[in-house]
Amino acid sequence: MLANDLGSTGRVLEAVLRFHPPAVPRVRLPDLRGGIGAMSQDDTARAATPTAVVTGASSGIGAATVRRLRAEGYDVLAVARRADRLDALAAETGCTTLTADLTDQTDVDRLRGAVEERFGGDLTALVNNAGGAFGTDTVETGRVEDWQRMFDVNVLATLRVTQALLPSLRSGRGGDVLVMSSTAARIAYEGGGGYTAAKHAESVMAETLRLELAGDPVRVLEVAPGMVKTEEFSLNRTGGDAARAEAVYVGVREPLVAEDVADCVAWMLTRPRHVNVDLLVVRPLAQAAQHKVVRERD
Ligand SMILES: NC(=O)c1ccc[n+]([C@@H]2O[C@H](COP(=O)([O-])OP(=O)(O)OC[C@H]3O[C@@H](n4cnc5c(N)ncnc54)[C@H](OP(=O)(O)O)[C@@H]3O)[C@@H](O)[C@H]2O)c1
Repeated sequence: MLANDLGSTGRVLEAVLRFHPPAVPRVRLPDLRGGIGAMSQDDTARAATPTAVVTGASSGIGAATVRRLRAEGYDVLAVARRADRLDALAAETGCTTLTADLTDQTDVDRLRGAVEERFGGDLTALVNNAGGAFGTDTVETGRVEDWQRMFDVNVLATLRVTQALLPSLRSGRGGDVLVMSSTAARIAYEGGGGYTAAKHAESVMAETLRLELAGDPVRVLEVAPGMVKTEEFSLNRTGGDAARAEAVYVGVREPLVAEDVADCVAWMLTRPRHVNVDLLVVRPLAQAAQHKVVRERD
């Protein structure tokens, strides 16, 4: 639950940030519960500890990325709307959580406050992963509301969060903005007009940002996955029609899974600072192109 009504930033954070000791940390993480003033003895540990915000962390690729970055030694702030799922992830991985709707500027402002308080304005990675597809209608019949939702969560939420956290990515050791686009950002297909348009926009935003930040200590990275079998993505797209959602993957030998994409994210983030992996397109072996999927028959 959000705590907009609490007075000071510290009290808000006390309410919304749930800290759990790391399960199997590779590096010692600083205990930030005492607030900024109590941190000085941990300055050395902090300097060595990479920090990350992962959006859309309550399921699929986002949750897998939180697990992977925790295993890599990152201090992670995991963000999504569903508190119960974030609580379970925190208990499992030792991440910190923030319940927020990233299409709402007030919530994004709270995220900025949480990052400043939690990481002292020294953020080393922002993984803009929250997103989704809604509907499979043609352009002619598509619902404007579905297109609006897709632009809100894929494009405008990425814009809001990136704007809010860029100061924290610049001010410390330098940081990374990673955008989770899609192969849908690189091609059009029938019935995918709203999603492909939104993902194209998200991708172009990343490309533009990289140009605009040239000279700053901030890398802009893009991952464009093809078919990834996650539990909710296709279900959301089909409006909860489980049979249609499952049909997407029928006969496909080994679609990507969330951990495959998290592996790509971790690899990109952990390259030496002078190496900027602009764009990583990753598909299952069975998918040579968006429209060229090998399906095995019984
Ligand atoms: N699965 C694929 O085939 C595939 C392929 C290429 C690219 N992608 C992209 O990869 C990303 C993750 O996909 P996925 O398969 O892991 O999907 P998913 O399981 O549906 O995850 C989407 C995540 O976004 C969060 N989210 C949605 N609306 C939000 C909002 N308003 N504010 C905050 N968080 C919000 C959801 O959490 P809450 O509901 O708890 O808020 C959820 O954690 C998306 O950007 C997607 O477009 C997926």
